[in-house]
Amino acid sequence: FTKGEKLYEGKAKIIYETLEDKGYLVYFKDTLTAGNGVKKAEVLGKGEINNQISSFIFQYLKDKGIENHYITTISAREMLVEKVEIIPLEVVVRNVATGSICRRLGIKEKKVFSNPLVEFYYKNDALGDPLICPNHIELLELASNSVVEEIKGTALKINNLLTELFEGIGIILVDFKLEFGIDKDKKVILADEISPDTCRLWDMEKGISLDKDLFRKGEGDVLVGYTEVLNRLKGRI
Ligand code: C5P
Repeated sequence: FTKGEKLYEGKAKIIYETLEDKGYLVYFKDTLTAGNGVKKAEVLGKGEINNQISSFIFQYLKDKGIENHYITTISAREMLVEKVEIIPLEVVVRNVATGSICRRLGIKEKKVFSNPLVEFYYKNDALGDPLICPNHIELLELASNSVVEEIKGTALKINNLLTELFEGIGIILVDFKLEFGIDKDKKVILADEISPDTCRLWDMEKGISLDKDLFRKGEGDVLVGYTEVLNRLKGRI
């Protein structure tokens, strides 16, 4: 597949048309950002690792019946995906309290939720991706109530599948972010990426982070954590 016109460049990925008109090409960059782009670094090799982890997880979810945009991995840094129109929502699922929910609501760090929590954020850099509720989603005409319900159900299914996947390799899935898109048949499907940039993953034994918190908090080598996640996933095959 050959890169066509650049459609969009985000903080961690670039989306291109393909000359074959066979879907979009996703290019994973080495750029790492935190705090809505305030903290920024280039981590050589991060893009390749995230492409591999994301590819693995999308294929795993596909095998388990979760429709998503992933078609195939075409190079170390590139994957081919279905063309979708991204719904401007960041869907966060939380199993354990940490990060913004602790700051916002005063919840104690590491509190384990008896039921996973699903939150919606409005994907809008200028507004700083604010937390919104389904009423706001309807008001802003981002998605209908039934689509919001569908997304919530799918997000919880994905949470069950990924919690099990990571448990099997000694990792706690603390929380993660999903994005959904509308495909050519008007179906709502999982899109974007699922990687240590978008998940919090804690080693069960050592309790240490294997995800972007290593960068956010300056706690250690990002590549070491991400590589550990990839190797454990691969070892599972
Ligand atoms: O910062 P916060 O605690 O709300 O993050 C919750 C989860 O969503 C984390 O796993 C984080 O990596 C992910 N997230 C993301 N992109 C954002 C915001 C959060 O991937 N813009």
